[in-house]
This record gives sequence, C-alpha cells and structure tokens, in this order.
Amino acid sequence: ETALKASIKNRCFYFNEINSTNGFLLEHVKDLSSGDICVAEYQSAGRGRRGRHWVSPYGCHLYTSFYWQFSQGMAQAMGLSLVVGCSLVTVLRSLGVEGIGVKWPNDIYLNRKKLAGILIEMSGQADSVCDLVIGIGINLSMSPAQADKIDQPWSDLSELAQLPDKTELMIALQRQLVTDLELFQREGLKAFQARWREADLFDGEPIKLLMGENSVEGICCGIDEQGAILLKTEEGTKAFVGGEISMRPA
Ligand code: BTN
Repeated sequence: ETALKASIKNRCFYFNEINSTNGFLLEHVKDLSSGDICVAEYQSAGRGRRGRHWVSPYGCHLYTSFYWQFSQGMAQAMGLSLVVGCSLVTVLRSLGVEGIGVKWPNDIYLNRKKLAGILIEMSGQADSVCDLVIGIGINLSMSPAQADKIDQPWSDLSELAQLPDKTELMIALQRQLVTDLELFQREGLKAFQARWREADLFDGEPIKLLMGENSVEGICCGIDEQGAILLKTEEGTKAFVGGEISMRPA
C-alpha cells in the first residue's frame, strides 16, 4: 500500500440559512481540520461581541467562520484577533479596497466607520488542546432597513466601483488566514507588530482609551508581543490590555 492517496485538506460548509456560522463549527469541532470554514447567506441568530445580536439579512453580506486548533491551549492564541485583523486588511487591500484599517483590538473600519467585526469563540480545555472558531462578518451592501437597526456609524463596500465577488473574497480570506495562523503559531505576535502598525487607523495619532470610569490619553504607537495597545504618554510608553478607543480623537 505505497500509493499516495490525495486527501481533502479543507472543507467549506455552505448554508443558505443557519442560526450562526460560529455555532455550526463549534458544534462540530470533533469532525473538523484547521482551516475548515462555514459560510451562510443568512443567519437567524448571528452573534456579535458582548452578547450582541449580529443582524444578518439574506444575501447582503459575508458571514463566515474559520476553525483552527491550538494544541497548547488558549495562551498560545493570545492576540489572535489582532492577527485576524491584519489578515482582513491584507485581503481587502489586495482586492483594491482603500481607506481600510484596524481599530484595536477587534474591528475593521473603512473611512472611519465600522465595516467588519470579528468574534472568536472557543470550545475545549483552555489549558490543553483548544478549538477556536473565528467568526467574521463583513458588510458588503447595507439596506436602509438594516442600517436603521444599527446603533453605530457603519460602512459597507457598496461605494466601490466594483463590489468584490463574494466567493473570491471568501477564498482569499481562507488562504490568508491559513498563512497568517501558521506564521502566528511559529513566531507569535511579534511577526505581526509591523503589519499591525501599517494597518492601524490610529497609528501616530492622539487617542483616548476609555476604561470603564477611567480614561487615558496618548499617542497610539502599536502593540506589544501580548497584543496590548501601546500609548506614548507624558510618563513614557505604556501598554494597556483593556479598554475601548474613543472614536473622537483626544
Ligand atoms: C462584532 O460584534 O463586531 C463581531 C461580529 C461577528 C459576526 C460574525 S458573522 C459570522 C460569524 N457568525 C456569527 O454568529 N458571528 C460571526
């Protein structure tokens, strides 16, 4: 039995309708290989961060999830959402989308308004083999009815001279994520620090970081090897792990 059999490396689970593409992959982690994806035209219970609903009207946008296994637990995945942000910016720029960038730690902005969101969920042991599902929602063409339901400034790709082909976008994204996650596993977040700065909408700008009741102001100057945001303040450069960037520059 020396004959080499071709094996299918990755699969795409495609649905016209599903509750959540993240939910689907999380329910099937035992049958998946790193790099498998799930895509749907409509999500009846799309999930956003902080328990929010991700409004997912039929056919309008890209709703996709990507599976990856980390053999050494959650610690190995620290900063993963920043890597995914870099991957998204790389892909969208390669398709000719200008004015695109990341907003620490999890969002993708186009012309200073939210274009895409990332939701990472895990199953399994946090300290041994851990299965991660990276969910990505990209606004392609927002309807006025949907726009009314969203409580923050948003953007979509409909102003582009030509909307990217959804299948092409999905395949490019899957390939880029495989490349970037392999690099991340080998070298950690330090392999992405320069790329992050290049993608960061606020790099070199004065920003205000809101942390509950408190806030801190400084010049945004990248991320450290754990994914904390670096701010140049009057007391020197400091790293912050939590908080949210206020959209109005300080
Ligand atoms: C955010 O709140 O910014 C994250 C939104 C993530 C939405 C995507 S759409 C595909 C995947 N499946 C889900 O249920 N959520 C993510």
